[in-house]
Amino acid sequence: MSSKARFITMEGTEGVGKSTNLAFVEQYLRDRNIDVIVTREPGGTPLAEEIRELLLKKRDENFDPTAELLTVFAARAQHLNNCIKPALAKGQWVLCDRFTDATYAYQGWGRGLSLEHICTLENLVQETLRPDLTLLLDIETKVGLARASARAELDRFESEEVVFFDRVRSGYLERAKAESQRFSVIDAGQTLVSVQKDIAASLFEYLKV
Ligand code: TMP
Repeated sequence: MSSKARFITMEGTEGVGKSTNLAFVEQYLRDRNIDVIVTREPGGTPLAEEIRELLLKKRDENFDPTAELLTVFAARAQHLNNCIKPALAKGQWVLCDRFTDATYAYQGWGRGLSLEHICTLENLVQETLRPDLTLLLDIETKVGLARASARAELDRFESEEVVFFDRVRSGYLERAKAESQRFSVIDAGQTLVSVQKDIAASLFEYLKV
């Protein structure tokens, strides 16, 4: 395995178990003496976390989808330049809870915004930086939403209709199909033990290269 620091992302719709499985991935990497930081989007720096609050807060005024898209990328620019890139430059691996695949899935497929426009913003904000590996936790929409709603008060995204999340899920799966080298799709409807066995197998294969 080359010593280059890697950028790993975890994606999925609501209630797929990202938090538990992110902790699992972090431990898996640390057990192999990999120096890794764990971060999230939207968020990851104090300013970007403030932007996250703006994005997730429920309010009476409709959040215009294009304004939402630009806000997501504003948080990303801040996070990339103040956290992700400096860490990678120091040789630290970065494990990120969501990244631009979420924008394609939620703002593109979910809200129906132009995928081309998202691609333009991606190139503007990230230049050539893309995740090296993306673990996509996939679950049937209704099962995920039932899990998410059992947890806490729903935020602005979690309050969307089932059909919205069906579109988001399709978007993720399309992206995984189009970039099968980068994505590893994990069936998150299995028991946690089986999910983590699959994640470990993916990471094992990935770390061999
Ligand atoms: P989280 O609850 O998984 O931390 O993510 C917060 C919400 O933000 C989640 O519902 C998905 C949404 N989101 C987008 O709509 N677009 C994005 O680009 C990102 C990163 C998140």
